[in-house]
Amino acid sequence: MSVEIIRLEGRSPQAAAQLEERIRAAKSTLGREVVILGHHYQREEVYRHADYHGDSLQLSRAAAALDAQYIVFCGVHFMAEVADILSRPEQISILPDLNAGCSMADMASIEQVEAAWTQLAEILDPDSEITPVTYVNSSAAIKAFCGRHGGTVCTSSNARKILQWALGQRPRFFFLPDQHLGRWSGHQLGIPLGRMPVWDPEQPLGGLSPEEIREAQGFLWKGHCSVHQMFQPQHIRRWRAEHPQGKVIAHPEASFEVCSLADAVGSTDFILRTVHEAPPGTQWLVGTEINLVSRLAEEVRGEGKTVDFMSPMVCMCSTMFRIDPEQLAITLEELVAGRVRNQIRVDEPVASQARLALERMLELS
Ligand code: 13P
Ligand code: SF4
Repeated sequence: MSVEIIRLEGRSPQAAAQLEERIRAAKSTLGREVVILGHHYQREEVYRHADYHGDSLQLSRAAAALDAQYIVFCGVHFMAEVADILSRPEQISILPDLNAGCSMADMASIEQVEAAWTQLAEILDPDSEITPVTYVNSSAAIKAFCGRHGGTVCTSSNARKILQWALGQRPRFFFLPDQHLGRWSGHQLGIPLGRMPVWDPEQPLGGLSPEEIREAQGFLWKGHCSVHQMFQPQHIRRWRAEHPQGKVIAHPEASFEVCSLADAVGSTDFILRTVHEAPPGTQWLVGTEINLVSRLAEEVRGEGKTVDFMSPMVCMCSTMFRIDPEQLAITLEELVAGRVRNQIRVDEPVASQARLALERMLELS
């Protein structure tokens, strides 16, 4: 499917221009007091106001290194939590819309994870035999769990390296909450798919037999991204038939079948870099969120490159989309008035334990 920059809101051009001006004015009044971080999935009208863009790893690094008093995170809830955990105590992390969550992160609760660990202890000694690794798309409580149990965090750009580390610590890993990223990364390390069973938190013993548990090299939490599950192998096959010279690139949250058919698999930043660095005139099919894909298509059009969206349906991250220019304008104007709106704060002891897990990841990557 060819893509155009998407504009889904019924705002008039004048109203859009006014919002743009309000954001610029408030940002300029705040000066160095504020920094805006923007994930690559943000809509264009928000993205262009960010001081830093990036994938989750880059934005985590930025959050750990910034000086501004206010970090306004144009992304989703877990990202603003990471910014709060990694920034200094006097810095304030803000999410312009508190409803901007991540449906994948919501697929694992700390209670379910604790229960899984207790159940695994019926068969194995988890604290000496299993390293827990959570994708950064998870709650602070789950990151803290990984910190407490000798594990760490990963992002889509370092998952393979982190899993390799995890297996160097203990013979098995427990990967939360995205089964697809866990499976793809384990596969890259040469682990047979049959030795990475899915752990279903709704079933006793995760739906596994004691033998399956003893045989496993990795457990994959039964979670997924509702956006990336829309991409299907037949979308790739159909496109390849029409573009025999074209290249396919996918995010590792897509299914194993989609990643196996792609020419390249990587984080949002990897996708952007790969297409930007490709020779003029090349053709691309991209399997990740539509706001990124449509912006990329615009950016490379002048070089004669074409970028198509992998699914015939418009699948966008509706929670990322909750951050809109109006929310951003109000957030900044409130700061100008001396009021903090929508602060994201992670309390102790969760914050310290999650920091341990995140710092382990930053050292390893
Ligand atoms: P990246 O770290 O690749 O930017 O991915 C974040 C995300 O939520 C993808 O769905
Ligand atoms: Fe979460 Fe998927 Fe949205 Fe990424 S694209 S923030 S994983 S729901």
